[in-house]
Amino acid sequence: MAEYRNIIVTGGAGFIGSNFAHWVVKNTDAHVTVLDALTYAGNRANLEGIPADRLTFVHGDICDADLVESLLAGSGMGAADAGAAGAADAPVDAIVHYAAESHNDNSIADPAPFVRTNVQGTFTLLEAAREHDVRFHHISTDEVYGDLALDDPTRFTEETPYRPSSPYSSTKASSDLLVRAWCRTYGVRATISNCSNNYGPYQHIEKFIPRQITNILCGRRPKLYGDGLNVRDWIHTEDHSRAVWEVLTKGRIGETYLIGADGERNNLEVLQAILERMGKDPEDFDWVRDRPGHDRRYAIDAGKLRRELGWSPIHTDFAEGLEATIRWYEENRSWWQAVKQVTEAKYAAQGQ
Ligand code: NAD
Ligand code: TYD
Repeated sequence: MAEYRNIIVTGGAGFIGSNFAHWVVKNTDAHVTVLDALTYAGNRANLEGIPADRLTFVHGDICDADLVESLLAGSGMGAADAGAAGAADAPVDAIVHYAAESHNDNSIADPAPFVRTNVQGTFTLLEAAREHDVRFHHISTDEVYGDLALDDPTRFTEETPYRPSSPYSSTKASSDLLVRAWCRTYGVRATISNCSNNYGPYQHIEKFIPRQITNILCGRRPKLYGDGLNVRDWIHTEDHSRAVWEVLTKGRIGETYLIGADGERNNLEVLQAILERMGKDPEDFDWVRDRPGHDRRYAIDAGKLRRELGWSPIHTDFAEGLEATIRWYEENRSWWQAVKQVTEAKYAAQGQ
């Protein structure tokens, strides 16, 4: 099992990256250096509670080759937060790459930032990892595989051909291919994980589950796309963090691991579970315009991860996880309230 002392977590101020940063600090001895541009999706507050001597926060762009190079060369901590007194003196020995433009609807409205961050940004990091021989773990999504029919008996595996549908998933697929090529051609010590839909605390309220919870909390009606029968394979973000750690420390270089927790549910079921748990009538929502190119179903076979690395999810009760997530948004109104209006205005302009 490989050990790491100072890990760069790109996108560590976003939803899944910040959950990973908290998990690493709680469960390992590694120091975390977050590199995050703080786009609309990044929030410094997501890292509150992590002791200063375990975290260095660098406000910067993964496309900034000079900055990335200086971080790996050990001279870039000048860009770190003033509060990061405890910046690790150990050289960076791994990059866990979460930073991305991550929302399908945004990618349809304006794909340019997706190409820049997801493709150019990944290229920039890979070049630096190559130069400094730093271990690289790439966080990707099951959406690179396209979608499955509702009645398809198969699920995605590591062998499923890439067939992305949206600007988001196609730029993630592109980044995966760069990682594979840099690994094979230049010997970059890389792994890839493709995970299904995450839920849990700190998820931006543009995404399905937090959008509906916060709609109900502020007296708006939830919005369901299309016929509501699209299926997503839900996993709690803590289980994703645990799986990424297993791949980083025990995964075979050059391999891809799919991460999923057998959590298939259609959107209507999920929405009605939220409505019911929040004391609302299950029909109290609006049907809205469908997303163009909307993927029908995602489903992950995580057999390789379970067999090879011994991982299994601990959040196996979706109702319980959803309940805790609803409570988190209820108890952290100040975290999301300021961006609710602008998020909904954007959706309203799209008829959603
Ligand atoms: P997010 O949008 O919540 O967070 C993205 C973070 O990246 C933000 O903090 C943002 O400020 C930062 N960022 C964006 N552009 C940047 C740039 N150019 N330089 C530096 N930082 C930048 O996303 P998320 O939902 O936490 O997803 C994280 C990763 O996990 C992504 O790579 C995504 O493709 C992948 N993923 C997400 C899911 C999901 O359900 N959300 C599922 C599987 C995989
Ligand atoms: P989303 O959270 O955007 O994740 P992804 O598109 O990456 O799977 O959406 C999850 C599902 O919920 C997807 O099928 C689209 C649907 N959806 C709605 O029905 N209403 C909404 O308001 C949103 C944001 C999504």
